[in-house]
Amino acid sequence: MTKEEERILNGESGWANQTCMKILTRLGDLYDAEKLIPISSAHVSGVSYKTLGDAPIEFLQALADAGAKVKVKTTLNPQSVDPEHLTKRLPKTLREKQLNILKQFERMGTTKSLTCTPYYLKSPSRESHLAWAESSAVVYANSVLGARTNREGGPSALAAAIMGKTPDQGMHRAENRQPNLLVDVETRLQSETEFGALGIHLGKMLRDRIPIIQGLGKTSKDSLKQLSAAVATTGMTNMFHFNTCSDTKGIERISVEAKDIRRTTQELSTASCKKCDLVFIGCPHCSLGEIKKIAEAVHGKKLKHGTEFWVCTSSHIKETARGYVKEIEKSGGQVLAGVCTVVSWTEKLGIETIMTNSAKTAYYAPTLSKAETMLSPMKECLIAAFQQ
Ligand code: F3S
Repeated sequence: MTKEEERILNGESGWANQTCMKILTRLGDLYDAEKLIPISSAHVSGVSYKTLGDAPIEFLQALADAGAKVKVKTTLNPQSVDPEHLTKRLPKTLREKQLNILKQFERMGTTKSLTCTPYYLKSPSRESHLAWAESSAVVYANSVLGARTNREGGPSALAAAIMGKTPDQGMHRAENRQPNLLVDVETRLQSETEFGALGIHLGKMLRDRIPIIQGLGKTSKDSLKQLSAAVATTGMTNMFHFNTCSDTKGIERISVEAKDIRRTTQELSTASCKKCDLVFIGCPHCSLGEIKKIAEAVHGKKLKHGTEFWVCTSSHIKETARGYVKEIEKSGGQVLAGVCTVVSWTEKLGIETIMTNSAKTAYYAPTLSKAETMLSPMKECLIAAFQQ
C-alpha cells in the first residue's frame, strides 16, 4: 500500500473514505492482490429499489452524509421506475423510496444516466481498467471492447468509484484472461435470440472458465451484447474470446449443436398461450442502431389492442434517438429511459406474459417478474406487437 492509502485506511481522511478503503483492501487480501490500480470508470449496480430493498439505503445515506464523492466517471444501473411512463402507474411509496436512492448517489457525484450499457455513453479504451458491476456489461467490456474489469458487487464498485482504484487481481491481469476451453458452435446462429440462447447454455457449462468460441460466423455488436448478457446470467464467466486464431493445442474442447440452441430457446419460452401483455426490447439497454431498426419497422403501424410495447434504453440514447422515439410513440409503443422490466414492477401493472428477444429477461421474468415468457427475435416480437 502507498503511504496515502495507509493514511486513508487509518481514518485520516474520514469515515467514508476509510470504509471504502477497507472494502477494497479486504477484497485485495482475499484475492492476493499486490496493489491497488487506478481505474478510468466505475459502474454501480443495486440501484433499483425493487432489487436493493431497504437495508442498504441507510449505508448509501451514511456515505453521502459523510461527504463521499466519486473520483472517476461513475454510471448507475437502471432504477425501478421511469419518470415519464411508469411513475404515473406505480404506488407513490415505491417512487419515493426510489427517488431517495437516486438522491444519495447523486450527492456522491454519479452521472444521471441509468443504464446497463454504459459503454454507449463513452466506450472505454482497450486495456483500460474499470470497476463495473453489471454482469452483462462486464462480459461485453472484457470480450468485445478489450477493457479490463472484474464482476464487481454494488458496494465494491462504489468503493472503487470513491477511491478511484481497484485491487490488481482477476481480470485486470493478463495471465487471468487466457482461454482455457474451446467451444465449437456447430450450427449457424440465425438471430440475436440464438446468440442469447447460446449464452444461457454455455453459462451453465463454463462456470468461471474463459472460452474461445469458434463458429460464431458473422457477428454484430448487438448479438454479442446478447451473448454477453446471457453467459453472465447462468455462469460466472467474465470473458470469452471469439474470432481469434490463438493456439488452442491441448485445450479442453466442447461443442454446441443446433439441438442445444433449440432446447434452450424452448426452455426459455414458458408461456402456454400466444397472447402477450407486454412485448419488450431492450435487455441489455438498446443501442441507437436497435432503436433505429425498431422505428423503421413500426413506421405507419399500430400497436395491437391489449398489448404494451416497451423499448428500454438510457436517457442519453433516448435523447440522441429523438426522431426514432417519436416514430415508435406514434405507433403506440413506449420508449422508457433508465429502467427495464426485470428491475421494475411489471407484476404490479398486471403484466402476466412477456415476449422479448432477450434470453436474460426470459430467464429471469418467471421468478423476478412473475410472468410467463416468449423468447423470439426482434422481428417476430414486432410482428406480435403491431397490426400488420
Ligand atoms: Fe439491463 Fe435490466 Fe437486462 S438491467 S441487462 S435490461 S435485466
